[in-house]
Amino acid sequence: MVRIGLDQVVAVVNDIPALPQIMIRVMKLTEDPDSTVQDINNVITQDQALTARVLRLANSAYYGFPRRINTVTEATVLLGFQTIRSIVLAASVNDLLSKEVSGYALAPGELWRHSQATAITARYLARVLKMKNADQVYTAGLLHDIGKVVLNHYLEENYHEVTDKVETEKISFLQAESEVLAFDHAMVGAKVADKWNLPPELVEAIAFHHAPEKAELNPLLTAVVHVADAMVMMMGIGLGVDGLAYPLSQPALDRLGLSPADIERMIAGLTDILADENSFLL
Ligand SMILES: [Fe+2]
Ligand SMILES: [Fe+2]
Repeated sequence: MVRIGLDQVVAVVNDIPALPQIMIRVMKLTEDPDSTVQDINNVITQDQALTARVLRLANSAYYGFPRRINTVTEATVLLGFQTIRSIVLAASVNDLLSKEVSGYALAPGELWRHSQATAITARYLARVLKMKNADQVYTAGLLHDIGKVVLNHYLEENYHEVTDKVETEKISFLQAESEVLAFDHAMVGAKVADKWNLPPELVEAIAFHHAPEKAELNPLLTAVVHVADAMVMMMGIGLGVDGLAYPLSQPALDRLGLSPADIERMIAGLTDILADENSFLL
């Protein structure tokens, strides 16, 4: 039994790097109605690597522009402030999510792939369901498992204890995780999002991505992230040690008005989009 205390979790969350300065400036600019496309361009293009990643994502099959987007200015005009913001965030957390997460048996790049696939799937669902805030949905999908990066350290030598519990006691991975560690990755992920000053609805969606019926602020957002995560697990992307050891919430499916047949159809519709490496190899 490893059982870590709250102070240890706080210490580890404190070790999580702050959002890069550029990301913070982009967040401020995209919230300010007086900002111009030029302002945003000036901030992003200060960082060449970030600029290259943003352009690669903007040109991915997911956004589906018929011709090449060559500059950040063009990307901002064509995709809009909210979408540019969510793309810059993806480019900013790429390194953090790309590390090996051995406590969950995720090879380097696997958590990133899982996170980005969930973000794309969630945004796709948001579009199908005609939700207003598709970019917030994308961001919640992107960050839903970020707590794994923090808990990784504690789970490394003990994940067999968690998987054995899942096996023998027939409980969900999340429950086993919190019985062994006293914390689960959803709770810890919410602390990271809070540290980054992300909106409370987003913090909630991360906290309850495995228990969407507990969401109060924005149950729809949480349900979409939950179902997108389940779809990505069904597709086998970034399964890791926890694999399919989470129940799919029927109330979440009901909230979205989706049947199992709809889910299958949407998985088929996503195959081409998720096959485009421009979304993953940043
Ligand atoms: Fe999760
Ligand atoms: Fe996940």
